[in-house]
Amino acid sequence: MRAPLRVAILGSTGSIGRSTLEVIRRHPDRFQVLALVTNRSLDGLVEQVTMFRPRRAVVADGAALAARQDLPRANWEGGREALLSVASDPDVDVVVNGLVGAVGLEPTLAALQSGKRLALANKESLVTGGPLVLEAAERGGGELIPIDSEHSAILQCLAGSDRASVARVVLTASGGPFRGWNSNALEGVRPSDALRHPTWEMGAKITIDSATLANKALEVIEAHFLYGIPYDDIEVVVHPQSVVHSFVEFVDGSVMAQMGFPTMELPILYALSHPERVDDARLRTFDPVRSSPLSFEEVDRDLFPLFELGVEAGRRGGTAPAVFNAANEVAVEAFLDERLGFPSISAVVEMVLSEVQTCPVTDVADVLEVDRTARAAGCAAVDRVGSADRESSVRKRRVGA
Ligand SMILES: NC(=O)c1ccc[n+]([C@@H]2O[C@H](COP(=O)([O-])OP(=O)(O)OC[C@H]3O[C@@H](n4cnc5c(N)ncnc54)[C@H](OP(=O)(O)O)[C@@H]3O)[C@@H](O)[C@H]2O)c1
Repeated sequence: MRAPLRVAILGSTGSIGRSTLEVIRRHPDRFQVLALVTNRSLDGLVEQVTMFRPRRAVVADGAALAARQDLPRANWEGGREALLSVASDPDVDVVVNGLVGAVGLEPTLAALQSGKRLALANKESLVTGGPLVLEAAERGGGELIPIDSEHSAILQCLAGSDRASVARVVLTASGGPFRGWNSNALEGVRPSDALRHPTWEMGAKITIDSATLANKALEVIEAHFLYGIPYDDIEVVVHPQSVVHSFVEFVDGSVMAQMGFPTMELPILYALSHPERVDDARLRTFDPVRSSPLSFEEVDRDLFPLFELGVEAGRRGGTAPAVFNAANEVAVEAFLDERLGFPSISAVVEMVLSEVQTCPVTDVADVLEVDRTARAAGCAAVDRVGSADRESSVRKRRVGA
């Protein structure tokens, strides 16, 4: 019998991290937790450490760890260096990158450079540093397997096919909670409305990105880098049931689709076990009759301008996708803090994209530099646009009073 694969989970306290632990808990003969990494959710990490007994527990925010005197010092480490060393730890077989945001790029590069299998949920790694990620895999011999359900679907549809036989891919989007709304109604949207996703349970950032469709633009860029597919051959359709995860159309007109109940545990298990399939009764819940009817619609590009802005940044290439991503991260955080209105997320991103100079991606320093510049420009834009948003909502309240 083979020894279990030793898994490190970056972002273990997040939505992807918790789902990964749930999958591992059901398959102890196949997978073993070697390291867990959080940013600062110490209570959550303590619980996970008690249950899974990893060799290493890392708190990326070293100050948060230092402030806790009650933890056993053995096996606990703090700081970003410790996070990066987990990604390249010689005892780790698979790194699951479930971090949120551009902060995931460097651990992605570290894992691939050290020849590991990288089960990648952190799409921002490919969006911000796509060429660097591919180069790191090539140089270090690492293997990149996506966790995002749409990209896992493409991988599963492609099994055994020559890439040259692919004519195009079609990613599906749930459409988020505001599908079919009109733009006036979006002005009054609060964080609690946007956090109510119709089909998926996810972390706050990706849930807001699903409501604006920025997430789908990030996924188009991710698909472009993962599978070397030109932007003209990547399409998106809205599929509110979230049962079909992607289509691949081949040059002879045949179309493959991968389907399944919307749970991230399935693509996570597949990323850990690829190319094998592991028996998991808990995940076998698909019922074609109950899933019916399945419907598909065009993306409403006027209602969701971030989709077009993001894809356009992908087409521009170089550091433009990193600028889009950084501006969007800053704007989403401001929206969640109620410093910015929902429609203004795209206004801020558009301003930053027109202000910040881009360049080709030659090394990680380029990406980190443009990320910093775009964040600073994003904060300034949030201050300008956010104060106008607040004045307008005060005016509306007065008129309503
Ligand atoms: N959730 C999904 O179903 C889903 C589906 C497809 C793709 N994805 C992608 O997967 C990634 C994670 O999403 P999520 O929904 O799981 O996010 P999440 O629930 O917000 O979790 C993020 C995790 O990353 C940690 N983290 C955040 N900032 C960090 C930093 N600076 N240093 C170290 N750790 C940090 C967080 O730690 P704390 O708990 O301490 O904050 C948490 O453990 C995103 O790229 C998302 O787009 C998610």
